[in-house]
Amino acid sequence: AFNLRNRNFLKLLDFTPCEIQHLLELSAELKKAKYSGYEQPRLTRKNIALIFEKSSTRTRCAFEVAAYDQGAKVSYLGPSGSQIGHKESMKDTARVLGRMYDGIEYRGFGQEIVEELGAYAGVPVWNGLTDEFHPTQILADFLTMQEHSRGKSLHQITFAYLGDARNNMGNSLMVGAAKMGMDIRLVAPKAFWPETDLVAQCQDIAKHTGAKITLTENVKEGVKGCDFLYTDVWVSMGESKDAWDERVKLMTPYQINMDIIKATGNPHVKFMHCLPAFHNDETTVGAEVAEKYNMKGLEVTEDVFESEYSIVFDEAENRMHTIKAIMVATLGD
Ligand code: CP
Ligand code: NVA
Repeated sequence: AFNLRNRNFLKLLDFTPCEIQHLLELSAELKKAKYSGYEQPRLTRKNIALIFEKSSTRTRCAFEVAAYDQGAKVSYLGPSGSQIGHKESMKDTARVLGRMYDGIEYRGFGQEIVEELGAYAGVPVWNGLTDEFHPTQILADFLTMQEHSRGKSLHQITFAYLGDARNNMGNSLMVGAAKMGMDIRLVAPKAFWPETDLVAQCQDIAKHTGAKITLTENVKEGVKGCDFLYTDVWVSMGESKDAWDERVKLMTPYQINMDIIKATGNPHVKFMHCLPAFHNDETTVGAEVAEKYNMKGLEVTEDVFESEYSIVFDEAENRMHTIKAIMVATLGD
């Protein structure tokens, strides 16, 4: 019913609620097909380029596995080793890769870079994360919410995003919630609320979809009655390490711990995180930060992360099914 063929997938603002719903339904179908062993490959003979100017575990692996499941082949272009950026502009890179590949994934810095790639490649371009947006993650998050919502549709769901609401996750969750008519609370220090222009744009969308968008510094009020609590790292890829000092000071009250879980008043509340997460000191950066600020978990505590409330690995798995749906919808036979 919905023809998304040859479309780019750069940000959710470019898609209607029906188109997003269609992608979620296709994701669920593809997931079911894979589990029951009757998946039909619809990307055979397709060649796909995966450009990563920042590191990745989930997004890269999701694109690779989804492509292989569907019969496509991939080339990985990492942060070093290609001419991109240093010696060749994105406009030229786009026209070169567009001559060889049927689809291109791009993870990098400014949104304008992926937009330029999308404008000149002549084949579908998919945004695998920019400083501003992470749209493939939102599809996985919404599919996961649907699976754990105890019968509620997206527009009946209330959730809070705590922490850095000015980053790619805060921005994209707000856009996604606005589009799908959800009740979202961005619970963050005022300096880390999304840009006013984007908020205004989302409030406009909300008028048509029935979404409710709340920005607040009040944690207890923000999380009350929520079906899901969501957080992300306080310092994102590409940001300076120096940012930690200010972030830890400002964001510690927004850490998701058991008190915050209880403050929802909902015994069925679920915890979500796009990952990677700082919930202990078992990583290099985690250990450094933990030692410096004497904290074992940062945006989320270990007990919440490992609890029965946590659905983070369902969410991670769904990256693959939803990315597959995006590729099949825009490029499939
Ligand atoms: N959530 C996510 O995008 O993870 P990666 O950085 O590992 O791809
Ligand atoms: N906000 C995080 C998301 C990682 C998936 C970052 O950009 O590093």
